[in-house]
Amino acid sequence: MQPKLRSALRVAAGAVTSAGSQNFLGAQWVSAVPRLVPPAIREQTALLLLSISPHYFYGGDRMAEAERARTTREVLVRDLLDPFLDRDTVALDFGCGPGYMAAAVARLVREVEAVDVSPGVLACARVLNGAPNISYETPDQAGRRNTPVDVVYSFAVVQHLTDTAFGAALALIRRRLRPGGTLILHFAAPVDGWRSEAQWRADSSVSGRAKLRFGLNCFGRSAAAMESMVVRAGFAHVRIEPLTGRTSADDDIARQHWLLASD
Ligand SMILES: C[S@@+](CC[C@H](N)C(=O)[O-])C[C@H]1O[C@@H](n2cnc3c(N)ncnc32)[C@H](O)[C@@H]1O
Repeated sequence: MQPKLRSALRVAAGAVTSAGSQNFLGAQWVSAVPRLVPPAIREQTALLLLSISPHYFYGGDRMAEAERARTTREVLVRDLLDPFLDRDTVALDFGCGPGYMAAAVARLVREVEAVDVSPGVLACARVLNGAPNISYETPDQAGRRNTPVDVVYSFAVVQHLTDTAFGAALALIRRRLRPGGTLILHFAAPVDGWRSEAQWRADSSVSGRAKLRFGLNCFGRSAAAMESMVVRAGFAHVRIEPLTGRTSADDDIARQHWLLASD
């Protein structure tokens, strides 16, 4: 298939399956699909759905992309998260996507609450990465719970949030994280072609406005902007560090930054 036709079909499929405002695979009917197909083709169906979203798979070979996602998330957990986890930990994975990271964390802890805005991706995650100690849920469902969690981590998510959405996420996280608990947020700095939200909003070209409105938002944030948002949400003891040299994961994350904080 011609690359242009493939990309047009992908945009069309993305629009049909989305619930708008960055909620890819968020249309209600999408979450029913993995349950309705016969068990023998459930995993293939989940991978096909994931390939429609701009978030998860970058190459055409879905099995290879799934393997890449599983491996990179296992390495990130081993290299970065392991020191913050033990058998008694209750962890909250914010923006869990297809659950590859939640599955790796679940093998080390008591419980994982895996939260994502998209009901469609949560349905795929249940098929691909279900485990007895993982609850897949939306932010609304996580917000209705009152039980405290020990650690909140979020990888490859903050970059896709507007300041408004990031503020709402931090309010939820602040309410659920126990006193003394740890917040871990990976983020991308506004370098190497990453533009800030303000720069995107200032772009008045037709393609820039269309990308901001209908495409996947990707915003870089400075360390100062990250710290200010997190402190405004009520966190303290903020530490920001480059991830270079800390993980051998074959992923952009390994060249970006993280923020650690507590209350
Ligand atoms: C690039 S994926 C990262 C998935 C996973 N954290 C990983 O690293 O494999 C970003 C995820 O964030 C989710 N997301 C975007 N906006 C969100 C929001 N406001 N609340 C919760 N999840 C959100 C998307 O649906 C998507 O699954």
